[in-house]
Amino acid sequence: MTESDNPFAGYTRRKFLNDLGKAGGAGAVYGAMGALGLFAAPLGAQPTNFVPPGQLRRGRGGSGKHVIVLGAGIAGLTAAYELGKVGYKVTLLEGRNRSGGRNWTVRGGDTETETDGVTQMCQFDQGEYMNAGPARLPQHHVTIDYCRELGVPLEVFTNQNADAYYYNEGSGFGPLGGEKVRHRTAKADLYGYTAQLLAKAADQGALDIPLSDADRELLIGFMRSFGNLTSENKYEGSTRRGFRVSPSAGSQRGEVDPPFALSELLQSRFGLRFAFEFGWDQAMLMFQPVGGMDAIPKALENAIRPTAKSIYGAKVSGIYNTNGGVRVEYQDNSRVPKQIEGDYCICTIPPQILKNIPSNFSAEVVTALGVPTPVSTGKIGLQYRRRFWEEDEKILGGITGTNLNLSTIWYPSHGYLGRKGVVVGYYNFGPNANFYSDLDPRSREQEALMQGAKIHGPAYINELENSFSVSWIKTPFSEGGWVGWPAPGGERVPAYDLLNQPEGNVHFAGDHLSYYIAWQAGAFDSARKVVMEIEERASA
Ligand code: ALA
Repeated sequence: MTESDNPFAGYTRRKFLNDLGKAGGAGAVYGAMGALGLFAAPLGAQPTNFVPPGQLRRGRGGSGKHVIVLGAGIAGLTAAYELGKVGYKVTLLEGRNRSGGRNWTVRGGDTETETDGVTQMCQFDQGEYMNAGPARLPQHHVTIDYCRELGVPLEVFTNQNADAYYYNEGSGFGPLGGEKVRHRTAKADLYGYTAQLLAKAADQGALDIPLSDADRELLIGFMRSFGNLTSENKYEGSTRRGFRVSPSAGSQRGEVDPPFALSELLQSRFGLRFAFEFGWDQAMLMFQPVGGMDAIPKALENAIRPTAKSIYGAKVSGIYNTNGGVRVEYQDNSRVPKQIEGDYCICTIPPQILKNIPSNFSAEVVTALGVPTPVSTGKIGLQYRRRFWEEDEKILGGITGTNLNLSTIWYPSHGYLGRKGVVVGYYNFGPNANFYSDLDPRSREQEALMQGAKIHGPAYINELENSFSVSWIKTPFSEGGWVGWPAPGGERVPAYDLLNQPEGNVHFAGDHLSYYIAWQAGAFDSARKVVMEIEERASA
């Protein structure tokens, strides 16, 4: 629409509100301001498509209808929970002997046998744990709203810590290759030099965005503050990078090392790690449930107890659309073949596993299930008898980013100043994850220690008590950390659209059918979507 064919051209929001005030008084103005989005920051409010957990739109479909839910991960539990609220009869089948799926908090006494038959038993002390799957929650995800509704207490998860390290090694990384550098140090210097360059370009009128003289001065002022520049707009170092000798009492002002050279910093590639913390889903503050991520599935499990029949150890062996319903065949822990019938099925089994389960799905659906590719990812929890990263290195939570095969080291965001602690010694994807996945648990531990000791020194090896490692690609009932759809730029493909449609009376759900892959929010949202679809069908 051009300015000239806009009937409201020239009619400003202020004039509109003035006119409305004359006609309808303050109440009308107040309401209209809300409708116009004039109250506090619409971008900061809930997105416009957000529906709180307690307010999903519902019909009367529930009464008497039976829904079989396959999988007690977040999607399956959420589906059972939302269906139970509106009177559906729900049977939940889960292959494992626990709920949560990939939301798995590993504690002492837990055992797991990977698909190659290798079994580990976790020996963490009581109170110690590792979130083997999801471990961080952004504030804006619906996961937080479910935590509120279910009474799951949260605490801050430290996704970025100025005092954690960057570490890159190997040829081509320049003089800082093989050096650990605190986030704050790398940022102070790189922000400083970048600000200096931009301030100078602005001063010389060499910017390719036209700016008024006043705006140019404002930009230079911003750069001076951003980079901690001198009054001549030069970066000459900053206390922001940290002290070699700490400020202290009396005459001790503290001593700061001179900055690294810009060329050294550029060669180190540390700057390429900064963008991570700008991400929509990765920026602080982030949160975790107190005591372990599995507080979420446990709360859902409790909430569905009155309305759903949950069968654990139930391995699904067939899914069939029937005349007017569904039939699911399975074996439970007694290994006796069983079957149940329902009106609908919500199937949250990961596509890479579901594609091999007998069914009477159409050939197109079976083909579509083979389209997404499972992603390999893994973690190792290293239990230490002493929190040397806190005591010796003053790192309380956060993540060290490296180009080592371990990718990242995570320091616990709970239990600070305690005696022991579990460090995540690697959390990696793709080839690095496959590398560790192919090792036996003892070799995974040895490799992780050898790599991590490059950053943390001998304590990283000497203070270890025990470890537990997870390879998601080799974990039964998951066989992948999440999936990728084979399209560039996160686009979805026709198979995605097909699986987002019901196949007869079977509705598919899971984070893989959302735009929040690898997040619990995707599982919550996908479950909510299919519950509403079933509601619509059942009420029709
Ligand atoms: N959501 C996952 C993470 O934060 C992939 O690492």
